[in-house]
Amino acid sequence: MENQATEVTINQTKLRTIQGDITQQTTEAIVNAANSSLMGGGGVDGAIHRAGGPAILEECKQIVARRGRLPTGEAVITTSGNLKAKYVIHTVGPVWHGGGKGESELLTSAYQESLKLAAENKLSSISFPSISTGVYGYPVSQAAKVATGAVITFLRQSTTSIKEVVFVLFDAKTFATYSSALRETAAKMGLNLA
Ligand code: APR
Repeated sequence: MENQATEVTINQTKLRTIQGDITQQTTEAIVNAANSSLMGGGGVDGAIHRAGGPAILEECKQIVARRGRLPTGEAVITTSGNLKAKYVIHTVGPVWHGGGKGESELLTSAYQESLKLAAENKLSSISFPSISTGVYGYPVSQAAKVATGAVITFLRQSTTSIKEVVFVLFDAKTFATYSSALRETAAKMGLNLA
């Protein structure tokens, strides 16, 4: 049970967990756990730029030239180059400093600003990685609670074009943690599992 992919429906939007590589997803957008420079990096950021090719970095450079570095908790949208998804939404999660530096609010904002951008662009589906839990050091169990709560709260508050939201977790442990967090958060918020 602990390891099972989980799905809940909120306001006609399906929210689920899968284990996999986000660069292979066919949702209309995938989210990148970027940094404020938008110049690429390691982890999922490196994987997305490698798989998508130089068009993504080109557009990121133009965005930074226009509006400067991307603050933590905000999001921007670019083309996806060679990826199957049409768009990449780049957001910046918080670096973990022990939990007393507004980390959960900033992580909530990273998820919700990404969803807002997807809705503004009338997108129907979006995939998220586990933002901040790699290089940025956010403990996975705490991040999973924040992430599932942030997405469910957003979907509950507004009816949007978004019909599918997927958490794409790279490793088995992160997948299991998000799956059980989604079940717990859904139960707390009175939602039925699929
Ligand atoms: N698909 C899905 N998830 C992935 C993939 C992939 N291809 N590659 C890595 N991940 C997972 C990691 O295993 C981790 O669970 O993404 C999660 C987030 O880890 P990071 O990519 O390290 O992201 P984050 O902690 O937000 O740190 C951001 O890292 O690479 C730099 O430029 C990036 O400076 C920024 C920082």
